[in-house]
Amino acid sequence: MILLTGATGRVGSAAAAALCEAGQSFRVLVRDADRFLLSAPFIEVIEGDLSDVAKVKTALSGIDRALLVMGNHPEQAQFERRFATQAAEAGVSHLVKISSMEASAETVAVLPQNHFATEQHIVDLGLGWTFLRPNYYMQNMLMYANSIRQAGTFSLPLGLATTAMIDAQDVGEVAAAALTQEGHEGKTHLLTGPDLIDFHGVSRRMSSVLKREISYVEQTPEAFHAVLENVIPSKWQLDAVCELFAEIAKGSLSSSTDTVARILGRPAASIEDFTRRYLPAFGADLP
Ligand SMILES: NC(=O)c1ccc[n+]([C@@H]2O[C@H](COP(=O)([O-])OP(=O)(O)OC[C@H]3O[C@@H](n4cnc5c(N)ncnc54)[C@H](OP(=O)(O)O)[C@@H]3O)[C@@H](O)[C@H]2O)c1
Repeated sequence: MILLTGATGRVGSAAAAALCEAGQSFRVLVRDADRFLLSAPFIEVIEGDLSDVAKVKTALSGIDRALLVMGNHPEQAQFERRFATQAAEAGVSHLVKISSMEASAETVAVLPQNHFATEQHIVDLGLGWTFLRPNYYMQNMLMYANSIRQAGTFSLPLGLATTAMIDAQDVGEVAAAALTQEGHEGKTHLLTGPDLIDFHGVSRRMSSVLKREISYVEQTPEAFHAVLENVIPSKWQLDAVCELFAEIAKGSLSSSTDTVARILGRPAASIEDFTRRYLPAFGADLP
């Protein structure tokens, strides 16, 4: 039996949809069952928080493979490491963890540092593992949907840095593949979209789909911090995100791979594909 965490989130919900489509039975651990929209006789839903040791123990009972993903949070590292320890105790043989492309021993930003330390913790537990390290999610562009719709612009403190943005849905599908196919144990997969470009390039691609001019405005780190202060209440998270973006501006996400296409047997989604999926959100009519 497979257990998915984060199944109401971007990556976990895509993994759940892929497993459901394949008719694979699985269980999800979600904080609010009403927010998990899939339903099938072979899907079990358990309500609980990753901070709840007893609930995690119940969710892990009878599980042999699991997906570990949760949103960034001051206690993310603690919750993820405890989940991994409990998974090993429960006899899970293969744990797939969503990490990030910047995770390494050298990174100076706290979010990828935490991912890297959690990966090391999982390795030390001795159970089978797969680490998925994605580039920047295309879904981050949805935070700018209002601004794109209303003013045709989006602002980021990333200068001319390049990224190879990935559709979080592809990350979820790769997670489902890693949980159900042979050959992923002991592998760290660097996951990217197909195009390594800067955000002026991103704006040109979105413009071509939306059929109007979208511009990328290069923002100072101070202006970015001031904007985020209004939407991120936690100072820890605000500082962590700003620190991460400073690293991205220096090029920490400037590489691409063909891993998604190799694993899924189809091209990774492009920025054009992603934009077409959210036409109304970005202010364009559906075809
Ligand atoms: N954004 C990027 O560009 C990017 C790139 C690479 C890697 N990453 C990594 O991707 C991960 C986030 O993945 P995502 O985009 O799928 O996140 P997401 O869409 O924000 O979803 C987070 C999921 O975690 C669940 N969750 C949060 N706290 C929880 C808790 N205490 N107990 C149980 N469940 C909890 C959420 O449940 P609720 O629905 O109840 O909130 C939700 O299902 C992070 O680790 C991040 O570092 C992100």
